[in-house]
Amino acid sequence: MRKPIIAGNWKMNKTATEAVKLINELKPLVERAKPEVVVCVPYTALWAAGEALEGSKIKLGAENVAWADSGAFTGEISAEMLLEAGVEYVIIGHSERRQYFGETDESVNKRLKQALKLGLKPIVCVGETLEEREKNRTRRVLKKQVLEGFKDISAEDFKDIVIAYEPVWAIGTGKTATAEDANKTIGFIRSLVRKVWGAETAKALRIQYGGSMKPGNAKELMAMRHIDGGLIGGASLVAKDFADIVNYKER
Ligand code: PGA
Repeated sequence: MRKPIIAGNWKMNKTATEAVKLINELKPLVERAKPEVVVCVPYTALWAAGEALEGSKIKLGAENVAWADSGAFTGEISAEMLLEAGVEYVIIGHSERRQYFGETDESVNKRLKQALKLGLKPIVCVGETLEEREKNRTRRVLKKQVLEGFKDISAEDFKDIVIAYEPVWAIGTGKTATAEDANKTIGFIRSLVRKVWGAETAKALRIQYGGSMKPGNAKELMAMRHIDGGLIGGASLVAKDFADIVNYKER
């Protein structure tokens, strides 16, 4: 059985001070959580968040990682820096990075390899835009993102990898893919992984849904066979909402 993983993606929200406040609100609410719980916070809040999380079962995540070890890469943050701050998970290839900051399947692949090399657990995002969906290109787009994003990644490496399927049109829009639809598409991603990396890898791989996931739809989404968790943007900024998603089973 795959252990569900619910991760908050705070994006460019929360100063270090605000991060500590939110984490302190969140901690008691998810104490008995069954899923794995992660908060991915801005770089400047990592140290403070890491300290605030000490002794809790919530894990610390970052929102990106450089592909190089160190050197002349102004504005980038290395895996080693993240590890020292206590980071365990890292989001790679979020659609906002792809859309606004020139992230490509190739750069995703490089960042992914670097994260794995240093022992960070990657949450790799894939998903189609509205235009791609309307032109019936969803599967073609996902296939390219998976084959190129995970190029030269071994089946062994997949043990530490989480994929987040986030249809771009559902992010921050209030529009969610229907649970059936999300399940079908995630099933397609799983079948792709099976073809290239084998049945065992595909079976063990955790694939999250992301895009306007909230307390009101978490249970239905999480009940789906292929959906193993959520990557939560907006709702992760409110302790009660995020906790309600984490505790979807008990509600
Ligand atoms: P949302 O964002 O939950 O606000 O739609 C999800 C994400 O971008 O990871």
